[in-house]
Amino acid sequence: MADLSPSAGQALAINIRNRNVLVSAAAGSGKTYVLVQRVMSMLKDIDSKINIDNLLIVTFTNKAAAEMRERIGKAISEAIREEGLRQEKDERLMAHLQKQLILLNKSFITTIDSFCSMVVKRNFHMADLDPDFRTVTAEETAQLKKEVMEELLEKKYSEGNEEFIALSDYFSPQYSDEKLEDCIYSLYDISCSQPYPYKWLDDCRRMYSDTDKGIYSDVWGQLLKDEVLKKLSQAKAVYETALGLYIKSGGVHKALERVLIHAENSDKVIIDTLIDKCENSINDDFIEYISEIKFARSAADKNSTVPREIVEAINALRAIFKNIIGKIYSDRDPNASLLPYNEAMANLIEQAHAPVMTELIDTT
Ligand SMILES: Nc1ncnc2c1ncn2[C@@H]1O[C@H](COP(=O)(O)OP(=O)(O)OP(=O)(O)O)[C@@H](O)[C@H]1O
Ligand SMILES: [Mg+2]
Repeated sequence: MADLSPSAGQALAINIRNRNVLVSAAAGSGKTYVLVQRVMSMLKDIDSKINIDNLLIVTFTNKAAAEMRERIGKAISEAIREEGLRQEKDERLMAHLQKQLILLNKSFITTIDSFCSMVVKRNFHMADLDPDFRTVTAEETAQLKKEVMEELLEKKYSEGNEEFIALSDYFSPQYSDEKLEDCIYSLYDISCSQPYPYKWLDDCRRMYSDTDKGIYSDVWGQLLKDEVLKKLSQAKAVYETALGLYIKSGGVHKALERVLIHAENSDKVIIDTLIDKCENSINDDFIEYISEIKFARSAADKNSTVPREIVEAINALRAIFKNIIGKIYSDRDPNASLLPYNEAMANLIEQAHAPVMTELIDTT
């Protein structure tokens, strides 16, 4: 890659120093390349006296660590070759780079796991560990988990409390506990990847125990609100496109202007009111408003000076607008709408889901 130079963004990530840098870019866009070049620019700066074994370079997988090591090795060799070809070569730099090739073998280019393990091994006395300790293998972990799971379920079945039996029936109505086990494992795995696993589990439990505040005011309500607001802003964008078309046409179409802007129930009034109410809270007031919306009806205008295609385009956009709002709440087809505001949903969480999920969380 001799004749290729970094892009402006890459150069920034390569050369920036003395601060934390987070590089996020698409697959194959040159992240590893940037990291390799960053290392090279440090090594080439001989006055800084940085050697490759002064750097800690960690990856998540062995494969990535091997790739990193190989690519840094290649880049050093390439730099030596380039310097060797120069008429006035810098002998100090040549010697420094050659030293790096040798040091590469004992450099810390490794997975984060083996780095941690090395730190603990070197300081076992401080960690109060046997110096011969080793990391469990994936197979051993699986075996251990399985044993713990068997013990746990056996204990739970023998205690026979109602909530647990309901949980077991819910996930594994047949004889096998496989599905229940899978749920416990995945809840366990997800919780372990959180900074505070127990707190996270506690928060999950709370999501199911706070339902008495009313479905639209708890955690679920917040999720729902975000979703509804997203739809409303889509509808607003469609409305603005329609309005923009009308204004840009420079013509006048009284009926269209009425339904878009002036009527009591114009699209503008409807979308602004919905957003306003939703931002406040999705409550009975919001539901009542959205369920009773009557969109203004457009009519023909003999004296229209707006081109016919534009009128048609605006009408098509209005149909999309109504459709988006209709899908948020619809009496006719509650299943197809986002807010089936009926007791069933609240009850589902409160009566069936909550105890089962709470028990699942407790069991985990
Ligand atoms: N500015 C550049 N000049 C020369 N080659 C480049 C440049 N940027 C990226 N490349 C090359 O593009 C290819 C992909 O780059 P790289 O492997 O660094 O991407 P990545 O973002 O780490 O990919 P992945 O997401 O797969 O890990 C490599 O061959 C790399 O050398
Ligand atoms: Mg990469």
